[in-house]
Amino acid sequence: MTPGQRFARLVTTVVVRVPFAWRVFRRPLTRSFDGLAPTWEERLGEERLLPMIAALDALPQAPRRALDVGTGTGRVARVLADRWPEVGVVGVDVSPRMIDEARRLDGRVRYDVADSVALPYADGEFDLLTLSNMIPFFDEVARVTASGGHVAVAFSMGDRTPIYVPLARVRSELERRGFTHVADFAAGAGTALLARRA
Ligand SMILES: C[S@@+](CC[C@H](N)C(=O)[O-])C[C@H]1O[C@@H](n2cnc3c(N)ncnc32)[C@H](O)[C@@H]1O
Repeated sequence: MTPGQRFARLVTTVVVRVPFAWRVFRRPLTRSFDGLAPTWEERLGEERLLPMIAALDALPQAPRRALDVGTGTGRVARVLADRWPEVGVVGVDVSPRMIDEARRLDGRVRYDVADSVALPYADGEFDLLTLSNMIPFFDEVARVTASGGHVAVAFSMGDRTPIYVPLARVRSELERRGFTHVADFAAGAGTALLARRA
């Protein structure tokens, strides 16, 4: 891993245990992703989407509103818009430069700059949340997911992904907040988990 990737892993590990610590890391991590934004699309091949696609394939029906949290340049948001053109898809990211790139690449999705520790959305506003290679802030994930809605969490290179949380941890954090585990997935080099809010 590069020093930047090691930093992202450190932040993820600390923040999942102590979400309050995010306030220390917010600015340097945002600056780091701002710097990566212009070349982010070149870094990631299509195969990196396979675990998220495996989780989406397991959904029982199309969502009504979907939110891609930590959307970066919007790769997963675009997958959602391709798959369900009639669905309102929103992508959110704390990095303004990532969102600039996402808006430049696709006009179908609404993109917002916001921090996922305090999302600017109503309780239960979305019936699908996707998090790809993203630090999960579980309280907000649970708050904005509708009853009966789903959350898909994917790590495109499994435990070699710089931003990585073991699926067992993701599962237990979601179950503590009223989610039911649906399934784990392995596809390409990555892993994913699908859970449903009871
Ligand atoms: C590793 S990138 C993944 C981007 C995209 N999901 C993908 O798979 O290509 C992580 C993204 O999460 C964003 N991010 C990190 N912490 C965040 C937070 N608290 N709120 C919103 N976005 C955040 C970063 O700015 C970055 O764009």
